[in-house]
Amino acid sequence: MKIVKTIAEVRSQVKEWREQGFTIGLVPTMGYLHEGHASLIEASCRENDKTIVSDFVNPMQFAPTEDLASYPRDLELDSKIVEAHGGDLIFNPEPEEMYHKNFSSFVDMTVLTQELCGLSRPTHFRGVCTVVTKLFHIVKPDRAYFGKKDAQQLAVIRHMVDDLNIDIEIIGCPIVRESDGLAKSSRNTYLNQSERKAALILSKAIFLGMDMVKNGEINCSNIINAMQNYINSEPLAKIDYVKIVDCETMQQIEIIDRPALCAIAVYIGKTRLIDNFFTEDI
Ligand code: PAF
Repeated sequence: MKIVKTIAEVRSQVKEWREQGFTIGLVPTMGYLHEGHASLIEASCRENDKTIVSDFVNPMQFAPTEDLASYPRDLELDSKIVEAHGGDLIFNPEPEEMYHKNFSSFVDMTVLTQELCGLSRPTHFRGVCTVVTKLFHIVKPDRAYFGKKDAQQLAVIRHMVDDLNIDIEIIGCPIVRESDGLAKSSRNTYLNQSERKAALILSKAIFLGMDMVKNGEINCSNIINAMQNYINSEPLAKIDYVKIVDCETMQQIEIIDRPALCAIAVYIGKTRLIDNFFTEDI
C-alpha cells in the first residue's frame, strides 16, 4: 500500500494499472477513517482490481464558521485501515496541490442542494461537487463509493455525474453503526461522555421513524412530529431539521407515495450530526 501526495504520482500509478488491464475503484474521504469508510474500501476491493482512497480535508466545503481547523486528521491510523481492508493507494494531497493560487473554477448545482443540509450549509455542496469532480478527473475510476449516511451528498453526486456525463458508476453503501446504534462519523470524536450518550437520540429517532413506516404510516407530518418530539426530549439536542424528501429530487413530500428519504440533522452541544433512512431500505 502506497501513500502519494501529488496528482502526477496518482496519474502515473493509474496509467501503469490501466496498461495492465486493471479496473479501479475510488473511495473519496476526508480521512480519520472508521468502519464506515472501511466498508466502502471493502466494497471497492470486491468490485475492482485496484482501490484508491483519497484522504483530503477539503477546505472548500467548510464555511468560515465551521470546523476545518479542528477536523480530526491521522494519516498513520488511516494508512493502517486502508492497508488492513485491502486498499492499494492513498492520495493525501496538501490543499495547495488541489487548489493552486489562481484556482477559480467551480462545479455547482441548483435544486438538490437547496434543501436539507444545503439550507444551513449553503456553500457546502459547491465545495463537495468541485473536489469530487477534480478527484474523478485525477483518478478516472470505473466506480466511486460513497456512504448512504451522507444521503444528500450521494444524491447530489449521482445527479452531477448524470448532468455532466461523467462515465463513472456511483455506488452507495449502507450506514455503519456503533453497537448501540449511533451512526459512525469522524465527528463523533468531538463528543464528550454525556454528549456521546445524548447523541443516541439520533439513531433512536431514526428507528422510531422506520417503525412507523414499517407499520404503514405514510403521512410525513405524523412521522416528522413524532421524531421531533422524541428528539426534543433530550436536553442536549437541538434540531437543525427533520425532513422527508423525494429520494431523487430532495424536495419535501407530504405523503410517502414514492421512494423517500427521511433525514435528520441535530446539534448535540456544538457538534452537528446527521442520520437518515431510505424507505426503500426498510
Ligand atoms: O464525504 C466526505 O467525506 C466528503 O464530503 C468527500 C466526498 C470526500 C468530499 O470531500
